[in-house]
Amino acid sequence: MDSCFIRLQPTTLYICCVYRLRNQDHGLSGNASPVQLSMRLHTRRTAMANVGQLPTSICNSNCSIRRWSSLASAQTACGAISQVPASRFHARARPAANAQFESASAWLDKYTIGRPYLFLMVTKIKRIAILTAGGDSPGLNAAIRGVGKAALGYYGWEIVGFRDGFRGLVENRRINLDGAALSGILTIGGTILGTSRDKPHRMVIKSQTKDMTGVIRNNLKKWGIDCVVCLGGGGTAKNALRLDRAGIHVITLPKTIDNDVAMTDATFGYATALDIATEAIDRLHSTAHSHHRIIVAEVMGHRAGWLTLGAGLAGGADVILIPEIPYEVENIVKAIRRRSKQGKNFSIVAVAEGAMSHDDARIYDKARKKLERAITLDDKIEAKREIAALDVRHQGNTMRLAKQLEELTHLESRVTILGYVQRGGTPCAADRILATRLGTACADLIQEGKFGVMVAARGDRTEPVPLDKVAGKRKSVPLDHSWIGTARRLETCLGD
Ligand code: F6P
Repeated sequence: MDSCFIRLQPTTLYICCVYRLRNQDHGLSGNASPVQLSMRLHTRRTAMANVGQLPTSICNSNCSIRRWSSLASAQTACGAISQVPASRFHARARPAANAQFESASAWLDKYTIGRPYLFLMVTKIKRIAILTAGGDSPGLNAAIRGVGKAALGYYGWEIVGFRDGFRGLVENRRINLDGAALSGILTIGGTILGTSRDKPHRMVIKSQTKDMTGVIRNNLKKWGIDCVVCLGGGGTAKNALRLDRAGIHVITLPKTIDNDVAMTDATFGYATALDIATEAIDRLHSTAHSHHRIIVAEVMGHRAGWLTLGAGLAGGADVILIPEIPYEVENIVKAIRRRSKQGKNFSIVAVAEGAMSHDDARIYDKARKKLERAITLDDKIEAKREIAALDVRHQGNTMRLAKQLEELTHLESRVTILGYVQRGGTPCAADRILATRLGTACADLIQEGKFGVMVAARGDRTEPVPLDKVAGKRKSVPLDHSWIGTARRLETCLGD
C-alpha cells in the first residue's frame, strides 16, 4: 500500500492510499466500476464503519472518498494538490493525522490488496458549535470569543452558539456567532449564550425526565455540526463524556470560580472570584476593627477550599476554614481569645461554604458510605434523601458558627455571605488570558481531530486530557499544599 499526506489549506486533511478491493465481504460489490464504487463508498459510510475498523471520525458528513487508477491521475484530477512527505506534514496536525491514517490502514489491509486504486479521504471541519453550562463565571465570553475568532478567522469554519447549556441543543435554540456577535464581549461578565444545569441524559421535558442524548446526536447530524465545545466545570465534563460515548464530537474547556476541575492547573473564573473575595475581606477589616467584632465571611467554592484559602491568605483572614480540613469550634475560639490577649479585639473568619465541623464531616461521611454500599434502588433513594437533608441543614452552617463564636468569645459577631457577587462582573486580566488561550487551543484540537478531551492548562502550555480522567473527579486542596503550609507559618487558625 502506497500512501502520502497532502495538505491543501489549514482546514483540510487529505490521506491517500493506493489499494485494490479484496474479493470478500467488505460491504461493497466486487465488480463495480471505479466511478460506481466511489459513489458506493460515499453512500455506504456506515456500512464501512461496521465491516471494518474505519474510524467514525472519517465517516462523518465531511468525509468524501473517491478513487482513481493511480496516484498520478489523482493528482492530475485534483489539480492544485501537491504531495507533501509525511515528515514535513504540519507538526501539530501530524499525531491526529497518523491516528486516523492507521485506523484507515487497518481497514484497507483487511479489505484490499495491491495498489491499482487510489483511496482519498478528506476530513474537513465546516461548522462547530459552542455552549456554556453550569454556573456562570467570569471569562466565559472571553473563551467564546477565543474559540470563535480562531474558528472563523484562522480556520475558516462557521460557528454557532446554543443557548442555555445542553437544553439549547435539544430545543435548537441557536445563534450564529459571526464577527459582530463575537466583537466587544471580551470584558463582559456572565455568558452571552446563557447557561443552565440541565443534563442531556436527564432532562425535564414537559414535566417528564427524559434521556435526550439520541435527540442531540440526530440534531447535530441534521445541522451538519462537526463538534460541540462545552464550557463548564466537572458536571459539564461528565455530561460531555456521555455525549462523547454516544459518538458525538465534544471538547470541554475548564470553567468555574471553584478551581476544582481535575487535571488542569487552573480554571477560568477563579482568578476574578479570588480578587473579588479578597477585596471583600479587605473591606470587612475596617468594620471588624472599628466595632471590635468577629466577622464571619462565607466564601463560595462548592466542596473545595481554593477560593477561601486563596482569599483568606491574600486578605489576611485570621481564621480560614475549608472543606478539606474539618474544624473544631473550640480551636477557633482559642485562636480568637489568643488574639484578644494580644490586644486585637476583632477577627476575620473566612469560611468556605463547604467547610464543616469534625462531627458534621463524620455524619456526611457515614451517609456517603451508605450511598456507596446501597444495592437496591430503594436503598439508593433513601441514602440520597439523607444526604439532601444534610445539605439543607448545612446551608445554615455559617450563621450557626457565628452564633457559637459570639457565645463562646463574648465578642459581637456578624456574618457576610459573599454569594453571587463572586461570580459577577468583568473578568480580570488573568482570566481573560487563560480563557482566550484555552479557547484558541481548543480550535487547534478540533482541527487536529482530537475530540473527547478537555483543554487543560499546564504551566504556559495547554494540553488535551481525555474526558474520563476529568469527569466525576474533583481537585481538592491537597493537605500538603504550600498555601496550607504558608497559612500555618503565619499562625492563621485552620480550625484543626
Ligand atoms: O460552581 C460555582 C458555584 O458558584 C459554587 O461555588 C456554588 O456552590 C454553586 O456554584 C452555586 O450554584 P447555583 O448557581 O446553582 O446556586
